[in-house]
Amino acid sequence: MAEPAVPHATHQVPAHIAIIMDGNGRWAQQRGLPRIEGHRRGVETVRRIIDATREFGVRMLTLYAFSAENWRRPQDEVGALMRLLELYLKRELKTFVKNRIQLRTIGRTHELPPGAQRQLARTIKATRDFSDYTLTLALNYGSRSEVVDAAHSYAAALAAGEISPSDRSWESFSRHLYTGDLPDPDLVIRTSGETRLSNFLLLQAAYAEFVFTPVLWPDFGRDDLAQAIAEYSRRERRYGKTSAQCGGSDEQ
Ligand code: IPE
Ligand code: IPE
Ligand code: MG
Repeated sequence: MAEPAVPHATHQVPAHIAIIMDGNGRWAQQRGLPRIEGHRRGVETVRRIIDATREFGVRMLTLYAFSAENWRRPQDEVGALMRLLELYLKRELKTFVKNRIQLRTIGRTHELPPGAQRQLARTIKATRDFSDYTLTLALNYGSRSEVVDAAHSYAAALAAGEISPSDRSWESFSRHLYTGDLPDPDLVIRTSGETRLSNFLLLQAAYAEFVFTPVLWPDFGRDDLAQAIAEYSRRERRYGKTSAQCGGSDEQ
């Protein structure tokens, strides 16, 4: 039976979805277009998927937009991506405010070009009081640099006496990650057929469910998202317990 185009009422909708938006370059290449055209189309997908997640009742969306390793790409492509980010933020500000979308970022955003940083600061400030829906953009993000930055910040807080030396809880440490008080993703989706994490949310995805789809990001639509949610809904999240403890049916 084909998957429903909209998640059923019985489907468990993930509160927080994180997406590794991959395949823009291949999408363009398949059409004989420059890679940047794929990125432009990828921005259209971002709009579509924000709308679809809101429609389906998802409360938080985190998008991997630029990795700490993406600086290794040709300078032209990096420059075009940064301009695209700035343009996207400028164009979207009104929509974010209208739809009460809070924008956040994770990553070393202070290393982004000044224009992009200005637009980010402006958008974050204008949307910071919204709590219905949180959009987090991972920009110059890498889990390994995140851990290093978190360790620095945690050590400083320990030295300042803000944390008790006997407190070894994950809760205290994880507050120092870029994600801070943002809940962990329930579902991580990667498009384009790649089945790796590429340094994305390694710690936060400790108990996330994963859905890998061959669809290239510019082609990813509302129905693909609905399918991923349906797939998520069939999984049993056990967090170390047995299936029987979780109300599952395979009791032996
Ligand atoms: C994802 O698409 C966008 C970014 C990483 C910025 P890619 O540009 O990685 O597309 P492929 O993997 O080359 O097809
Ligand atoms: C991961 O995609 C980064 C983003 C989606 C922004 P990449 O296309 O850069 O990942 P690798 O290099 O194939 O692992
Ligand atoms: Mg890629």
